[in-house]
Amino acid sequence: MTEPNDTPDSSRRSFLTLTAAGPAALAFGGAASAQTAAEEAALPGRGRAAIVTGSSRGIGAATARRLARDGYAVTVNCLSSTDLAAQVVAGIEAEGGRAIWLQADVADPDAVRALFAANEEAFGGVDVVVGNAGIMNVGPFADMTDAAFDRMIATNVKGGFNTLREAARHVRDGGRIITLSSGIVRQTPPAAAAYAGTKAELQIYARGLAKELAGRNITVNAVAPGAVDTRLLRQHGEEALAGIPEATPLGRLGRPEDIADVIAMLCSEGGGWVNGETVYANGGLN
Ligand SMILES: NC(=O)c1ccc[n+]([C@@H]2O[C@H](COP(=O)([O-])OP(=O)(O)OC[C@H]3O[C@@H](n4cnc5c(N)ncnc54)[C@H](OP(=O)(O)O)[C@@H]3O)[C@@H](O)[C@H]2O)c1
Repeated sequence: MTEPNDTPDSSRRSFLTLTAAGPAALAFGGAASAQTAAEEAALPGRGRAAIVTGSSRGIGAATARRLARDGYAVTVNCLSSTDLAAQVVAGIEAEGGRAIWLQADVADPDAVRALFAANEEAFGGVDVVVGNAGIMNVGPFADMTDAAFDRMIATNVKGGFNTLREAARHVRDGGRIITLSSGIVRQTPPAAAAYAGTKAELQIYARGLAKELAGRNITVNAVAPGAVDTRLLRQHGEEALAGIPEATPLGRLGRPEDIADVIAMLCSEGGGWVNGETVYANGGLN
């Protein structure tokens, strides 16, 4: 797995304090480096803006890079990997795109509001929101701690809700809203049932929100990846990956870019008739 590791130029960082219940440092940074108008006009993003939560690494980082290549100005977000978030932004800028990054815990509604406000201030509005931030705590029910379960609910369910709520309030007409579910919802292996439950809710949220936003030409969908080679899986050891390539008809683990491509497809004009659905992307492992 490749992840950006270089420490960013500190002159491009700032810090502010903002929290719902007490002081919590939120770091942010990035600078606009505009493409030429002609280049931008040729891209599907056409100068629109996207927010991708949890985009310091893994699927979110690949999605931020892909949307930037498609012409979107991108707001990158992390929980704690500020160096990685800054590197994602630097990589986008190096390719001629525009991006900022902001540290914000999606479980905190005020932090999510600050994320949307930072995007608004930098780019003037939002057209695509990808609610990607998530964590996976696994283990049998009998062994799951309260803390592990509560954090998963806070990040995946409350964080998913916080992101979709702000998206419903701010995405411009004609926009796209995507939330990251998981193929594990259909598989429901025993030690991952609690995690699968948090990801199942997001499919229902997408289906319902698509109906609530009727008349504004906004689509809302869930994307449900199969096993993708990221830290989320690898933190559970090599056994979390064992046998997956062999069991997958396409013969390998998913890559973050595979999922970014599906998200970009849903964001494209050609993806505009898919609405209120869950799109499974797993190389045939289902
Ligand atoms: N990998 C898979 O096999 C797989 C399969 C199906 C679905 N998914 C889903 O896809 C999404 C991305 O997964 P991934 O594999 O790319 O995970 P990952 O590599 O572990 O990256 C997770 C990202 O989410 C951020 N994050 C975590 N908690 C956050 C919070 N409370 N607030 C803001 N950001 C937070 C992390 O930021 P920091 O770097 O600061 O921690 C990081 O950028 C998740 O929702 C996951 O459930 C993954």
